[in-house]
Amino acid sequence: MLPAGDKSGAGGMNKIVRKRVLIPDRVSEMTIEAPLIASKARPGNFVVLRLTEKGERIPLTIADADPELGHILIVYLIMGKTTALLDTLDEGDSILDLCGPLGRPTRIKKQGTVVCVGGGTGIAAMHHIAKGNFKAGNRVVSVIGARSRDLLLFKPELEKISHSVLVSTDDGSLGHKGMVTEVLEKYLQNDPEVREVIGVGPVPMMRAVAKVTEPFGVRTLVSLNSIMVDGIGMCGSCRVTVDGKNVFACVEGPEFEASKVDFDELMKRLNAFKSQEQKSMELFKQRKLS
Ligand code: NAD
Ligand code: FES
Repeated sequence: MLPAGDKSGAGGMNKIVRKRVLIPDRVSEMTIEAPLIASKARPGNFVVLRLTEKGERIPLTIADADPELGHILIVYLIMGKTTALLDTLDEGDSILDLCGPLGRPTRIKKQGTVVCVGGGTGIAAMHHIAKGNFKAGNRVVSVIGARSRDLLLFKPELEKISHSVLVSTDDGSLGHKGMVTEVLEKYLQNDPEVREVIGVGPVPMMRAVAKVTEPFGVRTLVSLNSIMVDGIGMCGSCRVTVDGKNVFACVEGPEFEASKVDFDELMKRLNAFKSQEQKSMELFKQRKLS
């Protein structure tokens, strides 16, 4: 049986109630009417969506949920055909299938200082986790990084739920000039009270987070963005190796202990369909132009 989900746009379900462009032609957010999912969504959960009967299924982290209004928030980076197609939808349109909440939620307990690290689009996914930690009474330090200040997401939102927000940009246009992990390392050197670090972002960033925290011995989790199809443990496409064992990120994750993840393998598997993805995107663009 499928987990609780809001199926089919036909009855007004999965209606896009708000769309906001965060970075033009790159990243947007959608607030979607999905009362069942919103009532059950916890930080760390994701949804799998499908836009057409024969369309690809893609996972997207739930960036926020409002059970009272029955809304969930998704943030997407336009990186392939399906996200480009998603971006053609607007307020008032509906998403054909939305399945969720999926994945194990983040294990949040009151424990003191938690450092939430977000890189690029991963900052949006990290936001829900930071919010959950803040609500649990933890001292939340958000460390966020992007290539430049125009690409930095969710800073105002994180300021509302963090005790401090530390920023890096690759080009130095805001905050520390350099990688987000350099800010993390400096923070850990100055605060011995950190109980947990959680990193969400591109794979090289998550690997670097694991490396930085190791000498400090602080519990570190990363949220893995492996390729997913069904999202419920049946197809095997999200397989990752953690602590030498095969695990399915959709049902056993997406969060895992950072030091135990085989990041090289994850990277290879993420690139496995690169040429098909590029071809599909080119065809989509041609059809859009013709
Ligand atoms: P990006 O490549 O612009 O990187 C964002 C920031 O991450 C950089 O500014 C830097 O501070 C840090 N970073 C990147 N590489 C690093 C390295 N080698 N060492 C240390 N820090 C590093 O990010 P983007 O283009 O916005 O990211 C998109 C990627 O993030 C996509 O591949 C997407 O799949 C992934 N993503 C992952 C999740 C998740 O759940 N893990 C969620 C959303 C997006
Ligand atoms: Fe199919 Fe995880 S997405 S098993």
